[in-house]
Amino acid sequence: MAAATNFSHSPLISKTRTYSLNHCPFPKNTILPFKLSKSYSLKPLSLKAVISQQNPATTTTQETTQFKHCFTKSQDGFLYCENLKVQEIMESVERRPFYLYSKPQITRNVEAYKDALEGLSSIIGYAIKANNNLKILEHLRGLGCGAVLVSGNELRLALRAGFDPTRCIFNGNGKLLDDLVLAAQEGVFVNVDSEFDLENIVAAARIAGKKVNVLLRINPDVDPQVHPYVATGNKNSKFGIRNEKLQWFLDAVKAHPNELKLVGAHCHLGSTITKVDIFRDAAVLMVNYIDEIRSQGFEVDYLNIGGGLGIDYYHSGAILPTPRDLIDTVRELVLSRNLNLIIEPGRSLIANTCCLVNRVTGVKTNGTKNFVVIDGSMAELIRPSLYDAYQHIELVSPASPDAEVSTFDVVGPVCESADFLGKDRELSTPAKGAGLVVHDAGAYCMSMASTYNLKMRPPEYWVEEDGSVSKIRHGETFEDHIRFFEGL
Ligand code: LLP
Repeated sequence: MAAATNFSHSPLISKTRTYSLNHCPFPKNTILPFKLSKSYSLKPLSLKAVISQQNPATTTTQETTQFKHCFTKSQDGFLYCENLKVQEIMESVERRPFYLYSKPQITRNVEAYKDALEGLSSIIGYAIKANNNLKILEHLRGLGCGAVLVSGNELRLALRAGFDPTRCIFNGNGKLLDDLVLAAQEGVFVNVDSEFDLENIVAAARIAGKKVNVLLRINPDVDPQVHPYVATGNKNSKFGIRNEKLQWFLDAVKAHPNELKLVGAHCHLGSTITKVDIFRDAAVLMVNYIDEIRSQGFEVDYLNIGGGLGIDYYHSGAILPTPRDLIDTVRELVLSRNLNLIIEPGRSLIANTCCLVNRVTGVKTNGTKNFVVIDGSMAELIRPSLYDAYQHIELVSPASPDAEVSTFDVVGPVCESADFLGKDRELSTPAKGAGLVVHDAGAYCMSMASTYNLKMRPPEYWVEEDGSVSKIRHGETFEDHIRFFEGL
């Protein structure tokens, strides 16, 4: 049982700063120890001192293992991001909850794909929907990624981040004409999703005065064995085309030689896939389609196998497929047809680089249930509520020795019972003000955040290679909300 008597008044709470509702929505110097850098990132001078504190967990076995993960609970009971105590970062930033990323982990994740792709001609198209932070996009672009887009605004953002549009792919079952015109002007690859989509791409090509490189998105009907909300490649899906219709699409492309150039075939089976055989089965079908398409005189050079590789959300130590496992399972097929491979990872590049850092508001018990109530909620992180998704939760500091270990639902303050971040989690009863993280929050968390209950979207920070912490997105403010009504 959660013991309400375990509450203690954490000294952390007294450090909370109150924010005037009238201050500038993009404060440049609200955090005392922070200074403004050229790139608008705020570097916490005080946190620099923490670099020298070695994380015992990372200095021993972890450093020698191939895959180094950025968040580690060390033997001292503190959670570290790279070599910084999350507790200390939490106390230094302007408000909680906040998203905390490791920039080096993003680099490591991209390098894992790049190493795996060696020997193949390829494009790593990062799926911007997973996380659209501009600083993160710039970093991914700098590491050589292309981008996968599902809206005109994602394309605009990719251009702003400096992505080469000829390494970008525009997907979607409801692409709008205006957005397609922009894609055509910029020379982006476009995936054909339906008969009406093909019509719109032809119209866009005419408006832009440019021929569009298209791929056919084919549903191979391979079961990705995932939650139905994130399965996309099955025969009854709203996405893509069925192979029975392939000939119709080939004839339609042939009929528009001035507007369309067919360059390849695309599939995306779904998301959170944890078996590479699934990708292999789909790739076998896809290269057969490519053989058929080529036999009709089309010079198609690209196989796009989409994204979807899962990650270890459970932190159970289960051996999950790596980028190398994924690429190795399709490598021979790709080489045998002399194809360029496009992949579209989102989650497997960015999810494990981030935690949502929250503070405990209090602990309560109702009936047979114990609750840890935190300041974060389904507004900042909706995956558990929407998909019943599991994301690992832990406290950032050791609990006091007399804290009882109990089973808790970790919930937010939002006014509905769907507002939970985790159910039935075994935790030491936390003190008021204790830090609590939701792991693997880099993908589909901030990008799916809302302002429900006027919980404004949180700020984002990352730990850089040199161990400093920079703000990479301002938190949204009440003034931002009010601005939508100005001048009406
Ligand atoms: N390509 C296409 C065509 C997609 O539809 C997606 C994701 C991706 C690539 C990237 O998939 P990833 O590697 O990230 O699995 N909101 C859900 C996930 C929705 C995924 C939508 N499509 C979640 O929170 O799990």
